[in-house]
Amino acid sequence: MKSKLTFAPLSGIKTELLAVLATDTQTGKAPEAKPQPVLLTADTAVQAAAATILASGEFKAGANETVLLHAPAGLTAKRLLLVGLGKQAKVTAHSVRFAAGTAVRFIKPRGIRELVLSLPENDPKMLPHTASVRAAVEGAFVGDFDSDTYRSERKDQSVESFTLTAPASADKTALEAAFAEGVILGESQNFARSLVNEPGNKLTPTLLGQRAALMAAEVGLGWEVHSTEKLRELKMGAFWSVSQGSAEPPALIVLRYEPKGTTDGPYTGPTLGLVGKGITFDSGGISIKPADKMDEMKTDMAGGAAMLGAMRAIALLKPRVRVIAVVCAAENMPSGTAQKPGDVQTAMPFSPEKPGKTIEIINTDAEGRLVLADGLTYARQLGATHLIDAATLTGACVVALGHVNAGAFSNDEDAWSKFDAALAISGEKFWRMPLGEEYAELIKSDIGDIKNTGGRYGGAITAAEFLKVFVEETPWIHLDIAGLAWAEDSKPYIAKGPSGVAVRSILEWVRKYSF
Ligand code: BES
Ligand code: MN
Ligand code: ZN
Repeated sequence: MKSKLTFAPLSGIKTELLAVLATDTQTGKAPEAKPQPVLLTADTAVQAAAATILASGEFKAGANETVLLHAPAGLTAKRLLLVGLGKQAKVTAHSVRFAAGTAVRFIKPRGIRELVLSLPENDPKMLPHTASVRAAVEGAFVGDFDSDTYRSERKDQSVESFTLTAPASADKTALEAAFAEGVILGESQNFARSLVNEPGNKLTPTLLGQRAALMAAEVGLGWEVHSTEKLRELKMGAFWSVSQGSAEPPALIVLRYEPKGTTDGPYTGPTLGLVGKGITFDSGGISIKPADKMDEMKTDMAGGAAMLGAMRAIALLKPRVRVIAVVCAAENMPSGTAQKPGDVQTAMPFSPEKPGKTIEIINTDAEGRLVLADGLTYARQLGATHLIDAATLTGACVVALGHVNAGAFSNDEDAWSKFDAALAISGEKFWRMPLGEEYAELIKSDIGDIKNTGGRYGGAITAAEFLKVFVEETPWIHLDIAGLAWAEDSKPYIAKGPSGVAVRSILEWVRKYSF
């Protein structure tokens, strides 16, 4: 999708479709208080063209509500689309994100390939323009994505051209920068989504490594992709144990971002370690999953994809902080070479003097924490001073929080407050869950150091406690995105399928460390 920002007056814009936003300014309660939709444009020609429909009461400016007018009088645009933001008092930049996505998804199935969206310009609350510009562009790119890549005759072709208009009085330089940022964020989120969308046969660990390397080369990140030999050399016994049952070799993907021109001397700032679970297919292994919905386990690399998407955005937005990403990619399969329940594995040692922790495998389906254990240790060995991981880790997290909030855990209040601040910008829903010694007790092993499951109750928490063992004292955030990586239903502004969750929050967290 091509995209641009203009400052031209709306009434003179030649386009297939002009989309204008509206809010409901009614502050009273229904039923006595009827909705009072108001267009967020000062353009009198647009106001006039929409006057009849606004007066009719048919359009209430509810969130993501749409109404289409053909051949609007007095405009050069062929069509005028009104998109609701909902109650004026509740409007935020996120409402603009969704409305832009809604406009894009409105035109796609109708064969319209271009649109011009007008930014809110006369909202009395006056959203900060840069935030609404960024949100609108992000929303448009995210809305343009559909998952039907393997359909012979694709129905919903991509939108060709998206133009955002801002009032001529606006701060052009600031808006241009916000616009460029929005493109990067939208595209990076879609990059992650396109990876999650790939089936297991089209995206093996090796192929995920290739996609990561291609992206890294494109945006100027340092990269390495290792396989079996390196896992042996690093003694990544936990990671290797997951891949040992598969004919597909594992991939250890490392991406590096180096900030430029920060100081003259050697780098003394923090090094952020982004660690992602990259299980390209999770059958459960010998503790095999039921057939029902097993196909969904092609998405079990969504945490890894989120890290790759975030790294893409980081490379292009250039925060002043060093970042490394480690994605542990493997296939979890049952076979004659697969690990068995009861096996004991030795995780990667942090240093040669210190032996790796021993792990009793209770359930081979608790594989995500095994690959992450070695990934977290490796990130620390590479110099990470702060860690964040993302994983479709537990069904228990979905039981706890449904498909609405993802789970988040942290051992450090400063890292958490930065993540909390990042969420305020990204608008993504993460809910902090507890950690604690009583939970850690549940994963003590009789035969070794720890076991890889702590039973049914508190499953998301015992999984987090397992990871915490490998983080040691490093400030750390753990994101369990099992319930949000894949959307079962579409929304007006986003297709069903891979969501790209966590990309924007991780990026904003990284930016909080920029100096
Ligand atoms: N990849 C799954 C978790 C998952 C479940 C992701 C549903 C997305 C949707 C993970 O590897 C897994 O199988 N976890 C087990 C752990 C259990 C064996 C302790 C689970 O949650 O059942
Ligand atoms: Mn599993
Ligand atoms: Zn899994």
